Amino acid sequence: MNKDLQSIVITEDEIREKVKAAAAWLDERYKGKNPLAVSVLKGSVMFFCDLVRAMETPLQIDFMTVSSYGKGSVSSGVPKIVMDLAANVSGRDVLLVEDIVDSGHTLVRMRDLLLGRGAASFTAVTLFDKPCRRQVDVKADYSCFEIGDEFIVGYGLDYAQQYRTLPYVGILKREIYEK
Ligand code: PRP
Repeated sequence: MNKDLQSIVITEDEIREKVKAAAAWLDERYKGKNPLAVSVLKGSVMFFCDLVRAMETPLQIDFMTVSSYGKGSVSSGVPKIVMDLAANVSGRDVLLVEDIVDSGHTLVRMRDLLLGRGAASFTAVTLFDKPCRRQVDVKADYSCFEIGDEFIVGYGLDYAQQYRTLPYVGILKREIYEK
């Protein structure tokens, strides 16, 4: 285990199982379709790569960098688009892949933006859902893990841009974020 962690809360095996289940759910939903899968960078990158490889549906992939936290742990409430998609989403079935839905601002922003650009449908999948932190009324169509207000890192999730590459998810020691 990484020395800055207090404990591991979700193992690699548990993640793998949930990814498989999410992929099966999406394959069923997109039968006969050719969706555009969008990874909201940077947090969702690990989940996204595992998820689309577990899916059988033929699809295209694209990326968007959105940031609302900067170095802190409180949402600015105004997600900023740092890098836009390359693809035209008009008429496309868009599958948005998030690592976490927290305040909900990012999901609302993405949904309104992509439907506003003429997407034929919008489906959001998230690895983690933190309903207790919601500031706007929104929910992903599918969420792998519902969690409380713990500050977790790993498998894409960061603290000050660190720990994203851990293959599991854990809770940071308090001394790390309080120093
Ligand atoms: C995180 C996360 C989601 C968003 C969720 O991104 O990846 O995109 O916050 O929070 P919200 O529901 O409160 O909007 P962040 O801005 O930290 O950028 P990152 O993905 O590069 O870590």
